[in-house]
Amino acid sequence: MKKNVYLIGPMGVGKSTIGKALARHLAMDFVDSDHEIEDRTGATISLIFDIEGEDGFRAREISMIAELVQRSNIVLATGGGSVMDEDNRRALRKNGVVIYLSASVATQVKRVRNNRNRPLLEKGDPEQILRALWEERDPVYRQEADHVFPTDDRSPASVARDIAKELQGA
Ligand code: S3P
Repeated sequence: MKKNVYLIGPMGVGKSTIGKALARHLAMDFVDSDHEIEDRTGATISLIFDIEGEDGFRAREISMIAELVQRSNIVLATGGGSVMDEDNRRALRKNGVVIYLSASVATQVKRVRNNRNRPLLEKGDPEQILRALWEERDPVYRQEADHVFPTDDRSPASVARDIAKELQGA
């Protein structure tokens, strides 16, 4: 088994919740790329978007991922848009097993409903935005992933268990 596990997939799919449970199963550390950016800057993702725009956020995300792939023995939850950058894709592919957590747009909408720190969803109707992002990104997620795990109607704990089993070859 490779030393790191990288979770990719859209907003609201459960990368952080599943990632924490998975890290416990695998006795690895859990790291969330967005949280690392927030800790480092002392600003929320929303504030970074407000001040620096999406381009500023993406530049921070690229350097954060370049740094985090140097670590070993981690389960990393990546931001939903990180795979749209070629440097990020290359870094993830090279340094760990890439897992796509997938969900229908309806599930994504339900799961992001009560969360405010998602600036991309504040520009219009969240369902339309999530659908447009899904159409653009789902093929990229699939192309990059070593494994795909659907999460619709599944608890984070059971998805985490399934991933752990698969990775441990059980
Ligand atoms: C984004 C997803 C967010 C965060 C930022 C942009 C995206 O992360 O990185 O708001 O482009 O899909 P989560 O996938 O953890 O919500």
